[in-house]
Amino acid sequence: MGWRIAGSEIARLTEARVLESNRPYEPIIDSAIGPNASEVVIAVAHQKGGVGKTTTTLLAAVELAELRPDWTILVEDLDPYRHLSQRWPGDTPTLRLVPEGRDKGVIRLIDTGPGDSPAFIQALERSDAVLVPVRPEPLSAQALGAFVPVLQRIQRARDGLPVLAGLILTHVGTGRGRKLMQDEVETFANELGVDILAHIPYSDRVGIYLSTQGHYYRPVAERLAEWAGVDIRGLCAVA
Ligand SMILES: Nc1ncnc2c1ncn2[C@@H]1O[C@H](COP(=O)(O)OP(=O)(O)OP(=O)(O)O)[C@@H](O)[C@H]1O
Ligand SMILES: [Mg+2]
Repeated sequence: MGWRIAGSEIARLTEARVLESNRPYEPIIDSAIGPNASEVVIAVAHQKGGVGKTTTTLLAAVELAELRPDWTILVEDLDPYRHLSQRWPGDTPTLRLVPEGRDKGVIRLIDTGPGDSPAFIQALERSDAVLVPVRPEPLSAQALGAFVPVLQRIQRARDGLPVLAGLILTHVGTGRGRKLMQDEVETFANELGVDILAHIPYSDRVGIYLSTQGHYYRPVAERLAEWAGVDIRGLCAVA
């Protein structure tokens, strides 16, 4: 029975993929987020609730602060429920939670709430790039299909921005259905031409303790550092 449910969910995901085919995609790296940009703004967004946006914003920012102690990293909480603010472990000299638009850093990460609220759209309108956490679960994976056209509308109005910088698979586990959904998301990402930047295991260490032990978000931080760092010219062809 469980298998049949998983099978039908995957069929629905596949359908979403067909609906969204033929969309043009911009390259991951855009000139607007090159080394000359004074601040790189990254939205962590997905209309689906509970996919790990807040956890991703927080732990990616902490990892980045560890990786680049010489940079100022700013984080904004645009979720009206302020979950990130509630769980914020405290500022450090280089990592600060700031009100919308306040100050200037090397990188600014914006946490958004669920649903395509005005705040969610506004975050995408202010960002150079967007990171999309997704769970290897049917509703989360399907929501990805709905996210893409929303993003594309904004990209058309903003000359390709924000670029879809990558997916982050969260709540990754070993169950058969979960593995199956993970394969589906990976295939979907491949078809979109977008990288999966990290596979974050389903773990109390991440979800409950917000610990960087294990450094699961390190690959995300490394990618963010590439976008803002002086080495970016050597890493990508900037249009
Ligand atoms: N890798 C993980 N392993 C286990 N639990 C996790 C993991 N990542 C996040 N969680 C937990 O899953 C829940 C949802 O995560 P989070 O709040 O980051 O999602 P969200 O997308 O920000 O949700 P919302 O849409 O409500 O803002 C939280 O209870 C969080 O502690
Ligand atoms: Mg949240």
